Amino acid sequence: MADRLEGKVAVVTGGGNGIGKACCLRFAQEGAQVVVADVLDGPGAETVAELGGLGTKATFCHLDAANPTDNLTVMQTAVDTFGALDVLVTAAGISHAGYRSGDRDGDLQMLARAAESLQDPPRGLLELTLEEWQRVLDVNLTGTLLALQAAARHMVRLGRGGSIITIASVAAKVPEAGPVPYSVSKAGVWMLTKHTARSLGPAGVRVNAIGPGFIETNMTQIINEMPLIRDQFLTTVPLRRMGLAREVADAAVFLASDESSYFTGEILHPDGGFYTD
Ligand SMILES: NC(=O)c1ccc[n+]([C@@H]2O[C@H](COP(=O)([O-])OP(=O)(O)OC[C@H]3O[C@@H](n4cnc5c(N)ncnc54)[C@H](O)[C@@H]3O)[C@@H](O)[C@H]2O)c1
Repeated sequence: MADRLEGKVAVVTGGGNGIGKACCLRFAQEGAQVVVADVLDGPGAETVAELGGLGTKATFCHLDAANPTDNLTVMQTAVDTFGALDVLVTAAGISHAGYRSGDRDGDLQMLARAAESLQDPPRGLLELTLEEWQRVLDVNLTGTLLALQAAARHMVRLGRGGSIITIASVAAKVPEAGPVPYSVSKAGVWMLTKHTARSLGPAGVRVNAIGPGFIETNMTQIINEMPLIRDQFLTTVPLRRMGLAREVADAAVFLASDESSYFTGEILHPDGGFYTD
C-alpha cells in the first residue's frame, strides 16, 4: 500500500465494474476511503467486499446516474460516513440506450444493429429515436453534471478543495470511435469539464477529464471476442493492444492526488496513441 491518497475520501460512480472498479481498487491501494456508487447493486457490493479485503473502509450506495436525488444521496453518504469528500470520479456510463454492463444478449443485439449501419451508413442516424438519444445523454452527460454539482457543493462548503475526474472518451474528438449519442455525450463531458474547472478553480476544486481509448471492460468485451474486428481496429493504435482498466485508474490516481495540483480543465488520453492530434 502506498499513500498518495492517504486521508482522502473518494466517490466513484460506476464503481461496480470496469474503469470505475479499477479506480476504487487503485484509490484504496493509495490510502483513500471509498464510496462505491452504481446502478447494479450486486457488482457494487462485490467491489466493496474486495476493498474490505484490502483493509479499506468502503461503502456502497445505489445510484442511477440520471437521477438528481440519487446523486445528492451518494455525496451525502460520503460526508456522513467518512466526514469529507475530496475526490469524485464519474465513471458511470453507457455505450447505447439499452446498455447494461455484462449483459451479453444486449451486446449482441447492439452489434447486429451496428453491422446493419455499416452496410447502410445513413440508417443508424435516420432510425435513431428520441428516447435512445435522450437516455444516453441523461446518463453520460446530465449524470456527470448531477454528480459533479452535488459533490462540488460539499467540496466548496467544506473548504478542503477537491479533485473531480470525469470520464470522457476519445469518441469526444473522433466521430468513428462511437455512435452519435455516445460521441456527443462525451464531447459534452469534455466541455463540461473545461467549463466547471473555470467555475470551481477559485474555490480550490480541480476538474479534469480522462478520455480513454479502447479499454478491456464489459463495454468492449463483445468486440474483444471478435479477433478480426478487434485486430483491424488495433492497426489504428500505435501500441497495438487494448488498454487495461488499471491503466486508466493510474491516470485517475495522478489526477486525484496532489501530484496534479496545477492541473485543471485538462484531459488525459490513456489510449495507446490512438488520438495523436
Ligand atoms: N471501455 C472503453 O473502451 C471505454 C473507452 C472510453 C470511455 N469509456 C467510459 O468509461 C466509463 C466506464 O465504462 P467501462 O468501460 O468501465 O464499462 P463497464 O460496463 O465495465 O462499467 C460501467 C459501470 O457503470 C455503471 N452504470 C451504467 N449506467 C449507470 C447508471 N445509470 N447509473 C449508475 N451506474 C451506471 C454500470 O453498472 C457499470 O458498473 C463509461 O463512461 C464509458 O463510456 C470506456
